[in-house]
Amino acid sequence: MSTTTPIIQIKDLHKEFRIGFWRKRVHAVRGLSLEVHPGEIFGFLGPNGAGKTTTIKMLMGLIFPSSGEANLFGAPAHDVRAKARVGFLPEHPYFYEYLTGSEFLDFYSRLFGLSSSIRPTRVERLLEQVGLSHARDIPLRKYSKGMIQRVGIAQALINDPDLVVLDEPMSGLDPLGRKEVRDIIFNLKDQGKTVFLSSHILQDVEMICDRVAILIKGQLRKLGTLSELLGELKEHEIELTVSGIPSLTNDQLRSMSKRVVIPGDRLTVVLSENDIQEAIQLVLREGGRIEALAPQKGTLEDLFVQQVQSPNAD
Ligand SMILES: Nc1ncnc2c1ncn2[C@@H]1O[C@H](COP(=O)(O)OP(=O)(O)OP(=O)(O)O)[C@@H](O)[C@H]1O
Ligand SMILES: [Mg+2]
Repeated sequence: MSTTTPIIQIKDLHKEFRIGFWRKRVHAVRGLSLEVHPGEIFGFLGPNGAGKTTTIKMLMGLIFPSSGEANLFGAPAHDVRAKARVGFLPEHPYFYEYLTGSEFLDFYSRLFGLSSSIRPTRVERLLEQVGLSHARDIPLRKYSKGMIQRVGIAQALINDPDLVVLDEPMSGLDPLGRKEVRDIIFNLKDQGKTVFLSSHILQDVEMICDRVAILIKGQLRKLGTLSELLGELKEHEIELTVSGIPSLTNDQLRSMSKRVVIPGDRLTVVLSENDIQEAIQLVLREGGRIEALAPQKGTLEDLFVQQVQSPNAD
């Protein structure tokens, strides 16, 4: 592991809320520890109520931990020096909708104290970076959800941060909108920035994240690179497609298989690794053709569902 200071360092972090008249305890984050390193795109996953937003709020210094540490760039998360290097898109951003895209970004750049000489170019560059130059003079109330999300990301980039934290950046977007946000995130990585994002959309996470953490009921269940986590999941299954076999052989092959994907003369079945040699020999012996042979790969969704459904951490 890298010896440089982690961009994010969370150590045994806990957050308890007290709710209602009886001050009932909600233990939203329970002993979370993780590190995010420079240049990573890190995916923070978990079902609804897992504690993702609560963790992000502690990282942003918006709420204080009950115990444990949340550090950014080696300093406590509430330290102003750390905050100056971070951009943040909250989960349900609310923007003043009568401002145009460029007025909105200009407003945020004033908040960051950028001088009037650099503001116009900074705003234009950001609009361009998130593909909204054409909409610079349109009020936000006329923006689509995807455009709002993109202008929100632009807002998070105003101070040219080293770390960009995005809480559910793809939520509610159509496939094109999601792709646009993914491209922006890749672009941030190319610029050497570190990105920490929470998401429910596992296909997107699978496409862009270097490492992921899965949080369930406030506890860390899994942490690693996608290949490490998905490698664990491999069930050693192989999909085999064959043609030109007699119906008796077709029956035999189907009975050997774990499942039939496509029945018929051109048959596709899934076999365990142990049965594959025998199946191939059978097909060839009976004069059939092997059309395709594809090892099956577990997906992040398989892992996520497995973790959410299993009651115990492993
Ligand atoms: N301010 C608060 N007061 C009381 N309980 C809270 C507060 N904020 C969060 N919680 C509780 O903490 C738990 C974690 O919530 P959190 O919003 O962090 O989850 P999440 O993983 O972001 O979920 P989602 O995917 O739905 O956004 C939930 O049980 C939630 O009800
Ligand atoms: Mg949330």
